Amino acid sequence: MPNTHFFATAAKGTEPIVAKELECLHAQNIRATTGGVHFEGSMETLYRANLWLRTANRLLMPIAEFPCPTPQALYEHVRQIRWNDWMTLRQTLAVDCNCRDSRITHSRYAALKIKDAIVDQFRARTSRRPNVDLRRPDFRINAHITKDRCVLSLDASGDRLHLRSYRRQATEAPLRETLAATIVELVGWDNEGMFIDPMCGSGTIIIEAALKAINYAPGLLRCGDASSRESSFGFQRWPGFDRKLWGRLIAEARDSIREKIPGRLLGYDISREAIQIASQNAKMAGLEKRIRFERGNVLNLYPRGNRGVIVCNLPYGERTGELEELKSLYKSFGDVLKQRCTGYTAYLFTGNLKLAKFIGLRTARRFTLYNGPIECRLLKYELF
Ligand SMILES: C[S@@+](CC[C@H](N)C(=O)[O-])C[C@H]1O[C@@H](n2cnc3c(N)ncnc32)[C@H](O)[C@@H]1O
Repeated sequence: MPNTHFFATAAKGTEPIVAKELECLHAQNIRATTGGVHFEGSMETLYRANLWLRTANRLLMPIAEFPCPTPQALYEHVRQIRWNDWMTLRQTLAVDCNCRDSRITHSRYAALKIKDAIVDQFRARTSRRPNVDLRRPDFRINAHITKDRCVLSLDASGDRLHLRSYRRQATEAPLRETLAATIVELVGWDNEGMFIDPMCGSGTIIIEAALKAINYAPGLLRCGDASSRESSFGFQRWPGFDRKLWGRLIAEARDSIREKIPGRLLGYDISREAIQIASQNAKMAGLEKRIRFERGNVLNLYPRGNRGVIVCNLPYGERTGELEELKSLYKSFGDVLKQRCTGYTAYLFTGNLKLAKFIGLRTARRFTLYNGPIECRLLKYELF
């Protein structure tokens, strides 16, 4: 079988990390570009990528590429694709579209044209039409329009991959699971010593760290138990879905979970509610015995042992009164790191670079990441 071309969409700045993850999955011809990573492989590669990628947003399979200088041209090209090769009349559909540097400027209008072309094709053949479901469609189509050319893809993930299903509740300003996983990849904890998040909020960073440490495929969380019949990924509703292969990959992933790791994971937060939520989320992920959560002020942090990583997402509030308080929090936290955390490496994630200066320590490395539209930094400090 010849290889198929796939595309993993990724948040700005995370493309090389997604590419590295794909390398570990033995994908071929991996090429990172702005907004994602091209790669090739078999259907097994695609299934595996959905199951194992921690940092990508979605996996797409391009099925057509054509010029679309006008909405009518877009409509005509989409109508020429044989849609009943891909989906049935009974399946619901949704179209995601983004347009850049093109004469078609309205993504929503373009998505509507694509949907109309598909629906009209079914209606002309059968006098019936598939329904649209924007929230949880059976079949999701992605259109990427740049410089008057459209790449039309089937969305193999369905729901975005950050929706791991363990986070039933969140505190204020939770990180996306994929961004937390990116932080964890950049930290590169060796599973020894301590992994401490002293401001864990709803626990996203430490839960992602635990999942990686025990080699738990994030996609498994979406699969429910072995008897669950609900299909969790888009490709499970495609024609020719190989149920046997998917079952084997899931069984393999379950078998590769590590029972024990030498290191320990600790999450703290000053808020009682945050600790309750983080504990509940960890339980949903089946990690209640792997992570310990305690209520505590970061300023009282005395890490045990003399080796490990301290990773946290500091609050970076916008209001003026809040900013003054935060300056003092950043400064005092910097003192705690300096005075009590020798032997550790700290990684602080913040969206406010001015506040980061108040940490008062020399940064060993800095990584630019985006929390939605906010440009953030992950700052590394070696605490000798
Ligand atoms: C930006 S949120 C963390 C969000 C988290 N990464 C998530 O994904 O849910 C910052 C957290 O720091 C906590 N916090 C603020 N001041 C603190 C302090 N002095 N000690 C410990 N936690 C603190 C807040 O309660 C909040 O949950």
